[in-house]
Amino acid sequence: MSKEAELLTEFQSSIDNDSFVRLTLSKPVDSAGTLKKVIISLAFIKREAHLSFVYRHKTNDVTKNFKIKEAFNSLKPLIENDFQIANLFTVKADFQYERNGSKSRLRSTKPSFKTTPSRGHDKEKKHLIQDTEYLKQLGVLDKNGRVLKDKGDKFKQINKFVEVIESLIKNSELNTTDKPVKVVDMGSGKGYLTFALYDYLSTQLKLPTTITGVEVRQDLIDKCNRIAKAVNFENLDFQLGYIADFSLDKTNILIALHACDTATDDAIAKGMAAEAELIICAPCCHKQVRKSMLVNDELDSVLQHGILKERQAEIVTDAIRALIMEANGYKTKVFEFISTEHTGKNLMIVGEKKKQNPNPQQYLGEVEKLKSQFGISHHYLESLIS
Ligand SMILES: C[S@@+](CC[C@H](N)C(=O)[O-])C[C@H]1O[C@@H](n2cnc3c(N)ncnc32)[C@H](O)[C@@H]1O
Repeated sequence: MSKEAELLTEFQSSIDNDSFVRLTLSKPVDSAGTLKKVIISLAFIKREAHLSFVYRHKTNDVTKNFKIKEAFNSLKPLIENDFQIANLFTVKADFQYERNGSKSRLRSTKPSFKTTPSRGHDKEKKHLIQDTEYLKQLGVLDKNGRVLKDKGDKFKQINKFVEVIESLIKNSELNTTDKPVKVVDMGSGKGYLTFALYDYLSTQLKLPTTITGVEVRQDLIDKCNRIAKAVNFENLDFQLGYIADFSLDKTNILIALHACDTATDDAIAKGMAAEAELIICAPCCHKQVRKSMLVNDELDSVLQHGILKERQAEIVTDAIRALIMEANGYKTKVFEFISTEHTGKNLMIVGEKKKQNPNPQQYLGEVEKLKSQFGISHHYLESLIS
């Protein structure tokens, strides 16, 4: 048996008997190339053993995870052709393989490691929202609790949204079982996020929660109310209506996720009037500001391109929203709440009610400045609160 084959056999048996620590390949044959080293470790990904290859280049690392069988196919040419030294570490022995021209040798020595490393590289995430009946009825999971093929992004979005809420709630005065938490979800649509939030607040945090979804489509209202009843979410209901017409008393959390265009402004205005402690919105389709952008010599070279005008309008619309919220007593944060890989509509504006509101005029001054810089005649949210 060749020395390379012997090394691979030792490697295979160290994985089979769980004594494998690490395999490193060094001294590349092409010493001028960018790839300098490969470090291989064992990791569990979705509960399945994988070999994680870190390709160490001169200026960066590239990691690739392979199932064990595939890993051997990738490893063989690296040992046989690309690298001259391989160090296999196991808890039973260390092995050093060296090749020099046509000669190769394999030596074994006492083990450097007494225990195997944690295989905790497993990046499988523990989701806050997992296998639930409502996600089955909403068509996100199948009857066995697996995420349906075309619903992976939605499932991630639901969990990401609940994670955002988790960090906001846990650090706020709303995190107490003494006081009821009233939430209104404006433009609740199919209710995915509404159900998940109710589940998280009432079942997991055990807060006395009521949530109302407001939606203009009767079919969605009927479906969501039917499912809420079926899963015994007693204080979750969905009401038909336009956001702008919805009458809102004191509310703790106002949510508007992907409510179209100025519906986001309607929701923010309602939330501020209801003195919500938290206003959370993910705006979408920013038509109003785009249409109201006037010819502007300074920005002509940007605004003549449709897509740049669209993006410019999005940025300015949301910047002004945040400033108006600040002026009305909200500390705001604007951030991407989920990777663009899962949805392009990933910007979130969060407003937390401030205890004091020292200088509202300063923010309104900023609004005026932005409007004049970008040739914006008006912002819809201003008209709702003036
Ligand atoms: C893109 S969906 C988002 C649904 C949900 N919030 C989500 O993020 O999964 C927007 C929903 O808002 C509803 N909607 C839009 N404008 C509205 C308005 N002015 N009043 C009430 N609902 C509205 C639409 O019918 C639609 O179901």
